[in-house]
Amino acid sequence: MIDTLKQLRETTLEQLQNIQDASALEALRVKILGKKGEITAVLKSLGSLDPDARKEVGAAANVIKDEISAEITAAKSRIERIAMNAALVNETMDITLPGKRRSQGNLHPITQVMTHIEDLFINLGFTIAEGPFIETVYRNFDALNTPDNHPTREEADTFFIDHHTVLRTHTSPVQVRVMETQQPPIRVIAPGTCARRDEIDMTHTPVFHQMEGLVIDKGITFADLRGMLEIICHYVFGKDAGIRLRPSYFPFTEPSAEVDVSCYVCKGKIKDNCGVCKGTGWVELWGCGMVHPNVLCMSGIDPDVYSGYAFGLGISRITAAYFGLPSIKPYFENDMQFLTQFKGVR
Ligand code: PHE
Repeated sequence: MIDTLKQLRETTLEQLQNIQDASALEALRVKILGKKGEITAVLKSLGSLDPDARKEVGAAANVIKDEISAEITAAKSRIERIAMNAALVNETMDITLPGKRRSQGNLHPITQVMTHIEDLFINLGFTIAEGPFIETVYRNFDALNTPDNHPTREEADTFFIDHHTVLRTHTSPVQVRVMETQQPPIRVIAPGTCARRDEIDMTHTPVFHQMEGLVIDKGITFADLRGMLEIICHYVFGKDAGIRLRPSYFPFTEPSAEVDVSCYVCKGKIKDNCGVCKGTGWVELWGCGMVHPNVLCMSGIDPDVYSGYAFGLGISRITAAYFGLPSIKPYFENDMQFLTQFKGVR
């Protein structure tokens, strides 16, 4: 039996020398040391030997078992080392190659200016209201007191989807949506995209952006509106800028006004050659007025109790003013050279 054990030791150690992969090693381990392995069989058979032989064979079997175990562990780490070295050779990378740089993007200039102005209103206690770009004719026109025969309702001016649906021509329908669902006090702004069938030129694009403002409460007057417009003007154009109101007409406000801001290029110095204000010293930027009682009524607010003002800020033009751009056309041309110049507003 001792001879069998020695023989087993010899052949196993020899096999271990030549083994190259982990699964073959595991198979060998099971064959020798496993539950049904050859050494295990010897140890199990010790019971049938007489005591002296049992002692001798048992001791020899245990020595050989420990030796083979140690050799298997050594072979295992040898195989792992070889595999690791092979992997390292295959996976080498050339660390001298130049890296791939990802350039850092920036927000679109319109988005930058919108968020900048949103910050002002959020600090003043306004909330941001939203409405869809595809709007009902009712909310875009009728609920804003704009009669059927009003010129803006012509197909030549407005993108109609069908008889009842348009691409909103302004952000004012969001006023309606807010009044339909909330009772005063209301203090909201509604930034968003609008569309009109305008030819593209330096100051017009068929898609453009506005920011609506709506304040309704008891005792709101035109003086509140004027004060708010001044706050916006100073915030956007600086403390030295001023506003001028010119009487105007919008079906949904009464009285209504156009808001001019002192020219941000020639600073109101009225130079004939100023391309932005055309020598007038003022630039028309916004529309505003006191919310028409019909508009309040139609959306369920009592005009005998409440009054309010609304304004529409032309974001495309404010952005052009902000960054000193002569034209609003490039906003929508996806020219990276143009778009990547704008690294943030103050
Ligand atoms: N909706 C108007 C426009 O697009 C602007 C405006 C908004 C006027 C709110 C008065 C009140 O020209």
